[in-house]
Amino acid sequence: MSSRELFSFRNPYFSAGVGLAGGLFVLTALAGFILLPYAQKNLQFASLWDTICSAAGLPQRSASAPTTKVGPRLSEAVLTPTMLAKPSQESIGRGATLAQRCAICHGPTGISRADSPNLAGQYAAVIYKELWDFRSGARTNAIMSPFAVNLTDQDIADLSAYYAYLPRLPAFHPVQQLPKPRVVIYGAPVRGIAPCGSCHGGLDNKTGSPWLEGQSEVYLKAQLQAFASGGRVNDISQQMRNIARAMTPQEIDEAAAYYASQPPDIVKATD
Ligand code: HEC
Ligand code: HEC
Repeated sequence: MSSRELFSFRNPYFSAGVGLAGGLFVLTALAGFILLPYAQKNLQFASLWDTICSAAGLPQRSASAPTTKVGPRLSEAVLTPTMLAKPSQESIGRGATLAQRCAICHGPTGISRADSPNLAGQYAAVIYKELWDFRSGARTNAIMSPFAVNLTDQDIADLSAYYAYLPRLPAFHPVQQLPKPRVVIYGAPVRGIAPCGSCHGGLDNKTGSPWLEGQSEVYLKAQLQAFASGGRVNDISQQMRNIARAMTPQEIDEAAAYYASQPPDIVKATD
């Protein structure tokens, strides 16, 4: 038999071999690009094409387009350490005007009289990311979300510049300063909890980690509980959810009370 006849479809063995290889290829492609992505419970796809793109590692189109909401959305904000580092006076001024509508809850000086978070002196990157997340729906709150939905990218940048520029004033309801609880100092290495200050520290601040000192105890506790229960899911790579889930209710209470009791005069790392 010449090689020509060997590699011809007239040879039944050759046809069967090619058929088998082709069939296997189609089956594995179906499994890899369609069945497996669909089997992942925590992912939702807008269309079959989305599923295939996701399996191939391509960015999903639905991630940037404001589609109808299905399940919790992931944060789409992008943070860099130098972002918003040098805002113009004009940006701060525009932010001040926009902030008038926020004052009723966050206070005219960025310090809340109620249990809304204080914004004065908060890192610009944090305010930027949180507003971005409230607007996209990655973080939701019945009271706050409506004030973020209509902000433009420029509004968000200006508001961040303005609030970051405001001085950190004492909280409205100062409480006696409490000693640092164990979980804040050491974390809990066995349970995978890093010391809080390794990210939230005044000097050693990891980009995107909010400044916590002087926030209301009620607010801090509610956020930790929301991270633990999955009510808040906008932390990138689940870094805060993993920590809060591993904390005991008592540790949550202690950490919230401790941070709420701290004075605001901590050096700003971004200055
Ligand atoms: C009606 C009250 C109200 C108004 C008005 C309001 N907020 Fe809020 N804001 C809240 C509450 C309550 C929270 C905490 C939400 C939560 O518990 O998740 C919050 C959270 C935030 C946060 C997140 C802070 C953090 O440390 O995570 C930012 C940033 C923020 N608001 C900015 C603004 C800006 C800017 C405006 C004006 C455009 C505004 N808010 C208007 C009530 C309000
Ligand atoms: C690995 C870094 C890291 C460590 C360690 C860490 N956090 Fe966080 N934490 C973050 C980040 C990042 C966010 C902001 C999440 C987001 O909205 O993107 C956050 C958010 C929070 C918030 C919500 C604040 C707000 O205004 O929105 C609280 C409260 C908090 N952390 C408390 C703690 C406590 C208490 C500990 C220690 C037991 C701790 N964190 C340890 C990174 C960390």
